[in-house]
Amino acid sequence: MIKREDIEKIINAARIEEVVGNFVELRKRGVNYIGLCPFHNEKTPSFNVNPAKGIFKCFGCGEGGDSVAFLMKHEHYTYPEALRWLANKYGIQIEEQVLTQEEIAQQSERDRIYQINDFAQKYFQEILFTDAEGKSIGLSYLKERELEEETIKRWGIGYCKETGDDFSKKALEKGFTKEELVNAGVSLVNSNDGSLYDRFRGRVCFPIYNIGGRVLGFSARTLRTDKVKAKYVNSPESLIYSKGKVLFGLHLAKNEIVKQDECFLVEGNMDVVMMNQNAVTNVVATSGTALTEEQIRLIKRYTKNVTLLYDGDSAGIKATFKAVNLLLEQGLHVKTLLFPNNEDPDSFARKHTQDEFKNFIKNNAENFILYKTNLLLSDAQDDPIKRADLTRNIVETIALVPDLLERDAYLQQCSKLLNVKEEILGSELAKILKNKSLKTNFKQENTEQEVQENETVVEKPIDVKEIEKEYIVERAIISLLFNYGNRITTQEIFNSEGIKEKKDLYVANFVVCDIISDDIAFKHKLFNEIFTIYSDFIYNKESIPELSLFTSNQNQEISKLATDLVMNKYSISPKWEENEIKVPQPDDIETIDKYVRDTLLDFKLYKINGYIKEIEEQVFKTQGEEQLEWLKTLQRSINIRNDIAKQLGRVMIP
Ligand code: UTP
Ligand code: MN
Repeated sequence: MIKREDIEKIINAARIEEVVGNFVELRKRGVNYIGLCPFHNEKTPSFNVNPAKGIFKCFGCGEGGDSVAFLMKHEHYTYPEALRWLANKYGIQIEEQVLTQEEIAQQSERDRIYQINDFAQKYFQEILFTDAEGKSIGLSYLKERELEEETIKRWGIGYCKETGDDFSKKALEKGFTKEELVNAGVSLVNSNDGSLYDRFRGRVCFPIYNIGGRVLGFSARTLRTDKVKAKYVNSPESLIYSKGKVLFGLHLAKNEIVKQDECFLVEGNMDVVMMNQNAVTNVVATSGTALTEEQIRLIKRYTKNVTLLYDGDSAGIKATFKAVNLLLEQGLHVKTLLFPNNEDPDSFARKHTQDEFKNFIKNNAENFILYKTNLLLSDAQDDPIKRADLTRNIVETIALVPDLLERDAYLQQCSKLLNVKEEILGSELAKILKNKSLKTNFKQENTEQEVQENETVVEKPIDVKEIEKEYIVERAIISLLFNYGNRITTQEIFNSEGIKEKKDLYVANFVVCDIISDDIAFKHKLFNEIFTIYSDFIYNKESIPELSLFTSNQNQEISKLATDLVMNKYSISPKWEENEIKVPQPDDIETIDKYVRDTLLDFKLYKINGYIKEIEEQVFKTQGEEQLEWLKTLQRSINIRNDIAKQLGRVMIP
């Protein structure tokens, strides 16, 4: 835990141009710097760094944020990791909150396991390259599998001798204790005499790394072809290693995954290493576990697009189906690729040139619907019962896709392939979704609610235009506060005697007071949060908040949005223009008074129209006395609306 004061110190010390300059070549242009964006491929620079505001923004891909956000994105650091990096760069002492005795003990035990793994990795590699047995058995095996020396070094692959306790002895000599070696999983205890022997004896050892490139454990392959021994022996779970939370190869793949915006997922370590040697580096392996949610979350930090390159045998296909379902559920986009003639990525990569390999992937990766349907179709042939099962099976998979539009697109595709009417598939899908929601409802509310059997699932229609309009007017207010909050504006306000008079005041104060006194709420969660922070600041500190309160906010969504608004003052998404919404844009300072007024009025006009609709509903619903009251309210609201419209120079058609 880093203390609040230290975080502030770090953020204030960080110079965005220096931080980014560590990783990106920047050129000065006016008061800003520009360079080639590290987050997407580009040939002309659209990556901007603004030292005054302490933020960066790419106008090509939209990435943006402060120094911390940059490090989190570029180096894939966590928030505290990014802060520590900056603290180190700027020589700021951070006082970590005090750990308990138990935490200290655990911390040092973890450190020891890291040290042991690090020692083991170096030792195994030395044996592989310098020891007689290492060279004649280990190295010659890897050469036979066509691994180049550079590849072996890049992956830190080594060899553990047959002898039985060669490594354990060296590790004890080095000062590690028996207990530590056992806990780290590299040594085992001989039950006869309590001595240690090597877990990975007689095997080629592939280190398993964390994202930062530290060794967590090993996956060790036997060199024998007999089936007496397990092909791989892996490090057991330890304080630092948990197999479901690691992806083999991610430390070398992450940057390329981001660049390509795609991750290849394979089954075997050897597949990763060989593809890497063949210049396809955005690849990771699950290494013997069924794909877990944690692993998917790891991938999701870098991309939403996954291509599965599993074996074409029946076990591989089964694993693919399972993985597809899991990935879809997490909102990822999935493609699958089968290699011909029982090849796997490793053997295929070995037999083809880099270009052939890349092209093969490009031309043969297909979306999972196509893949699954074709596979199942060839099995079902014309058997009607099998075909019905198959259809249900595929629709079940489609039902996992969280995005409505995507789901619909899949349904269309599936309908064509199976030659089944879309409506039929649609009703099948509705059934499945209904069952699913029944199950979750039941779980959540089984005490209260009984769900009616023949109730159908109706997706509530969403009016995209409505959502966008509200988004635009709310966004315009926040943008106004960020970009012009500390400017002076001349506005008419009511004085204490209730008389209108002209006054000079800060835009921030004028806007915030106006919105609060009219008691208007922001519908969008993020805007609401920002407005609350902003107005609280104004009322409590009686000053206008610094932009960094938002651009360096710990809530990544807020800092992203703030950066966008600050760097992107006048640009409006073309999508919005289609909606014919007028967002006022000040070209110069003279127009600012009008800009402030119009932005506020636009916002209010939108809100009051929504309010009027609600009142109209009440008028319809009620009768007599009550209805009369609602009618009066309605008339008042309409008057206000017309007044606003008039001020904006628009005519409202009743
Ligand atoms: P594979 O059998 O496909 O291994 O198992 P591979 O890496 O391609 O190895 P080669 O090509 O036969 O040399 C896939 C992964 O499953 C795990 C390993 O991580 C392996 O890379 N596995 C396999 C085990 O953990 N234990 C085993 O006994 C077998
Ligand atoms: Mn293999």
